[in-house]
Amino acid sequence: MTINVALDGPSGAGKSTIARAAAIKLGYVYVDTGAMYRSIALFMLNKGVDLENEGAVAALLPEIDVKLTYENGEQRVLLNGEDVSEKIRTSEVSMAASKTSSYPEVRKFLLGLQKDIASKNSIIMDGRDIGTVILPDAQVKIFLTASAEKRAERRLKELVEKGESISYDEVLADIIKRDEQDMNRETAPLKRADDAILVDTSDLTLEESIDKVYSTVVNNIPKEEKAEKKVSSRDRELMPVRPISKKHKLNFFDVFFYNLLRYIVIGIYHIYYNISYEGVDNVPKDGGNIFASNHRSYQDPVFIALHARIPISYMAKEELFHKNVFFTALIKAFGAFPVVRGSGDTSVIDTSVEKLEKGRNLVIFPEGTRSKDGKVGKGKTGVALVAAVAQTKVVPVGINFEGKLKFRKRVVVRYGKPIEPKELGITSTSPRDLKKIKSEIMENIVDLVH
Ligand code: DC
Repeated sequence: MTINVALDGPSGAGKSTIARAAAIKLGYVYVDTGAMYRSIALFMLNKGVDLENEGAVAALLPEIDVKLTYENGEQRVLLNGEDVSEKIRTSEVSMAASKTSSYPEVRKFLLGLQKDIASKNSIIMDGRDIGTVILPDAQVKIFLTASAEKRAERRLKELVEKGESISYDEVLADIIKRDEQDMNRETAPLKRADDAILVDTSDLTLEESIDKVYSTVVNNIPKEEKAEKKVSSRDRELMPVRPISKKHKLNFFDVFFYNLLRYIVIGIYHIYYNISYEGVDNVPKDGGNIFASNHRSYQDPVFIALHARIPISYMAKEELFHKNVFFTALIKAFGAFPVVRGSGDTSVIDTSVEKLEKGRNLVIFPEGTRSKDGKVGKGKTGVALVAAVAQTKVVPVGINFEGKLKFRKRVVVRYGKPIEPKELGITSTSPRDLKKIKSEIMENIVDLVH
């Protein structure tokens, strides 16, 4: 069971700092929805759109992809793949966000993303309409406020520390104007939900405010859910299971061109390398399967794909997308999608499951990094999590060659018998189940490396 805490309030009440700290104490994920609105505003500012022109703003929304990731517990905001966490914190973006967030199309655009994060995680989500619109059923709702003067004082301190030159009066005027805009707009005005608990931080220090929010959450979580918290951490589900349907068919032309490319590359690789394949019969004919392999070289996804008739996708580190144009086009053609290293967030798992749901195969290297000496490492549980969430087959793969890859090198690619989470009795994403499936996958890979 996930716990949702909705934290609303006006600008500058300290919501984000307080929510972030309280979330750490509670072991919840902190979700800053303001950052999402700010990213959209930044995008519009960069495009030079007239922010008063609602239609023009709405028309550009399809070009935007906003993602939240977490790095060492810190939320980072990615706008079309670029980390804009710092860029969105200027006064110009604040004002622009206040404007663009009043447009219904903009709110609709972010609604799904916000609800989705909340359904999968125990969270403290801060914003303006979280308790009223986004999470009307949140177990705890808090309305955090402070007098406009106190908020202006705090905000001024922050801006001066960042080197912005602005006066107290300007900051206060900004805050009053933003309050006006946020409270009086037609769509999702800033409003305290009837069942929200009021926390006024005007006379509290930061520490006191964090304690107050923390204790308000702990004291207001319904009793049954507190009891649920006692479930052993080994049995607690990390993410809900969402078996893929395996019904989705990929676009005919995508499959056709992928296979054309596959045959061309098979020809080239047979000339360039002394390559052979074993266990090809183990490769499922359909899509939506995971290929879990040891990791030896950047060629690995191609080695694996050459006998997968349905297009593959695989996670590749961000940096690889900034190499030369030809290389980027090639890895994209073979289904690479970027992951930001160390972000450890669930969006990578979601993206992986989405690829499987679309019918693509997914290649995962559980070791994470390439092994120079050919020994298979321990492997991380990400592969098990994707398999358990999607409830789909995992084909173990062993890639074998000695030393470095070069012209006419002997390469043997072995596909093992697919492993089914269901056959192993794995129907949840509890750490206990994930460990079981990960061990099974890694043992199978080791058997194929010799
Ligand atoms: O909390 P913040 O200052 O980072 O928010 C930036 C702007 O986005 C602010 O003007 C209000 C708006 N916003 C909103 O309309 N709804 C939310 N859930 C969060 C922020």
